[in-house]
Amino acid sequence: MSTRLQKNGDESFIQGVGLGLRTPHYHFIESTRPDVAWFEVLIDNYMQPGGSPLYHLERIARDYALTFHGVGMSLGSADPLNMDYLGILKQRINEFKPAWVSDHLCWSSVAGCHGHELLPLPYTEEAVALVIEKIRQVQDYLGQRILIENVSSYLTYTDSQMPEWEFLNIIACEADCDILLDINNIYVSSVNHNLDAELYLQSVPVDRVREMHLAGYEDAGTHLLDTHSRPVYDPVWDLYRKALRLFGTVPTLIEWDNDIPEFDILVAEADKARSCMRDLKNAVA
Ligand SMILES: [Fe+2]
Repeated sequence: MSTRLQKNGDESFIQGVGLGLRTPHYHFIESTRPDVAWFEVLIDNYMQPGGSPLYHLERIARDYALTFHGVGMSLGSADPLNMDYLGILKQRINEFKPAWVSDHLCWSSVAGCHGHELLPLPYTEEAVALVIEKIRQVQDYLGQRILIENVSSYLTYTDSQMPEWEFLNIIACEADCDILLDINNIYVSSVNHNLDAELYLQSVPVDRVREMHLAGYEDAGTHLLDTHSRPVYDPVWDLYRKALRLFGTVPTLIEWDNDIPEFDILVAEADKARSCMRDLKNAVA
């Protein structure tokens, strides 16, 4: 059996700290095979048949476990699901057998136009019902549970009837999906909206959290901007340590999407996350 078949499609290979797979690092990864627990693949970049992205993904998938992370489901949109998109996603799942597939608790399309922005939803009963139905449809079609990720936001809606964490909890439990908890997004939104980030963490159902994200933001003065362009900041590391105490050593990913640095900078960030996990294990030993 090839390494790829051993590693992919098996959740048990997703442990510790992974890295987001980014184009500038393809050649480094392929030529040096660095010791990385797993790679998270921005699957929207691999939808076109043939070409360079799929070529590199096929090579990297031979040696590394993968997870898929998407931005195209638009689970909170009033539009019907984009079955063309889901069809290609299903094809890629069959080809690469990622351990799991995640997308965001947001909307990004309206009237068939996709905006490529992860826009927050109003936290209403109506939105709860809509998103649950969408997730059920996606999971039925893909034949597997998905993970939904909390997004960072810069506005709130006066129509909202519940806090964000309650919105997330109800949807995850009722749709029977899992949660990708982005710790940086919780921190960014908590600063932007003056929310209690620790209360957010404490309110998330432990048994649904299967992955966490860490990333760096930019301070825009009046608000924090979720840019994924910086190292993880200290307040986010602090919140991450609290999350580890609540959820255990959940597989964690370093996300870096803009001003992408040399690969060793990502490895150093992953080392920091691993050290947080080790500290927790030592504390409970
Ligand atoms: Fe994230």
